[in-house]
Amino acid sequence: MSSIQSYISDNKDRFLSELIELLKIPSISADSAYKNDVLKTAEVIKDSLINAGCDHVEVCQTDGYPIVYGEKIIDPNLPIVLVYGHYDVQPPDPLDLWDSPPFEPIIKNTELHPEGAIFARGACDDKGQMYMHVKALEYMTTEGELPCNVKFMIEGEEEVGSENLGHFVKANREKLENDVILISDTGMIAKDVPSITTGLRGLSYVEVEVTGPNRDLHSGLYGGAVANPINVLTKMIASLHDENNHITIPGFYDNVENLSDVERAEMAKAPFSLENYKKALDIDAVYGEEGYTTNERNSIRPTLDVNGIWGGYTGEGAKTVIASKAYAKISMRLVPNQDWGDITHLFKTHFESIAPAGVRVKVTPHHGGQGYVTPIDSLGYKAAAKAYEQTFGKTPIPQRSGGSIPIVSLFEEELKSKTILMGFGLDSDAIHSPNEHFGVWNYLKGIETIPHFYKYFTELKK
Ligand code: BES
Ligand code: MN
Ligand code: MN
Repeated sequence: MSSIQSYISDNKDRFLSELIELLKIPSISADSAYKNDVLKTAEVIKDSLINAGCDHVEVCQTDGYPIVYGEKIIDPNLPIVLVYGHYDVQPPDPLDLWDSPPFEPIIKNTELHPEGAIFARGACDDKGQMYMHVKALEYMTTEGELPCNVKFMIEGEEEVGSENLGHFVKANREKLENDVILISDTGMIAKDVPSITTGLRGLSYVEVEVTGPNRDLHSGLYGGAVANPINVLTKMIASLHDENNHITIPGFYDNVENLSDVERAEMAKAPFSLENYKKALDIDAVYGEEGYTTNERNSIRPTLDVNGIWGGYTGEGAKTVIASKAYAKISMRLVPNQDWGDITHLFKTHFESIAPAGVRVKVTPHHGGQGYVTPIDSLGYKAAAKAYEQTFGKTPIPQRSGGSIPIVSLFEEELKSKTILMGFGLDSDAIHSPNEHFGVWNYLKGIETIPHFYKYFTELKK
């Protein structure tokens, strides 16, 4: 057994119980009712970084939730790895769909996780994955060897768009100077198919409001004679895709990068079972843009999805009413080269232009970010690949993901370094959904793999 493996087996119970304590705090950044819990989580992260061996840790205030910064500088001539993660979590609702309460973590066995999985909001996204780095540092500063310098930057607003982190990065370029950025906030293909995420999609998130008559109306007295904002909104939304599931907003695809046939063939080599995919989601067919495979649709192609829609009467029983207003929250996942500001503008112009007479439409941009692709010939990627080879016994597959971490492109712009996305979650971990979980095996495998990254990165950098 290697030294890291024996350290993990000696400390496994503590690694789990510490994470469980962290998961008990409902650090929901989207809901101000949890403000004190979010702030408390930052303090817990701060203490954990001190305990793991950082020699300087601070909780940096922002206009929103604080950023926890920590560092261990052993020799200014050695490379610097900057670890980024987030301590905030998504709201847990709908609560009644959880088998156990979201902030009372428990370990249960599942088919994919016979070694157990921790069920709690944030278990995988991102407290569990972020904490792997804290424990890997603890190992390296105690029994192992820390081969280079390390900086930690753990934020509390990732799930709400990282706006204040953007300001923080711009204002602290020198402090954050690094040779590579390391993030575990994505997934891998399967426990026996390690992969490194090489792409993230961008995002544009908007809210739309359709207003009809100046008050809610009796649907008998007025029905048929005035525009019903909910009818109109659904019709407008439906028109945003054509019969091939192509998005109809003029100019939407203008900057979309088309992958070559060679690249697409390379992508298609990643193991994937459509049958298992459908089975896991209980659907009898997949659905999406004509001409692309499922894995292409959810990674290299842009999308437009309604995330929520409301208006009118939704309570018990029936109420005959034509609502004055209807609303929807809409997200567009973007691919590299599509600028999220441009796309937001295109959406707004188009959506306003298709509104029929009789209603008024308001489009309010929320937040967004650019997509990201990272090459597989960088030192960071090579070091990560070697680390996985060491601990999984297999070369990892590069894979573009459909999710977004908008701050990553800003990191590259402002800090001029590449980000390596070493994710250890599985798609089935149900992040953002009820019953989110993170495999105990995945958690420990992450802790085991990370120190190898430091070693290989430092060696390759020489
Ligand atoms: N960790 C996720 C992003 C992710 C998950 C990327 C899995 C790749 C694979 C992150 O916390 C997240 O949820 N991001 C948001 C964007 C943000 C602006 C709210 C997302 O992708 O919806
Ligand atoms: Mn995340
Ligand atoms: Mn998330």
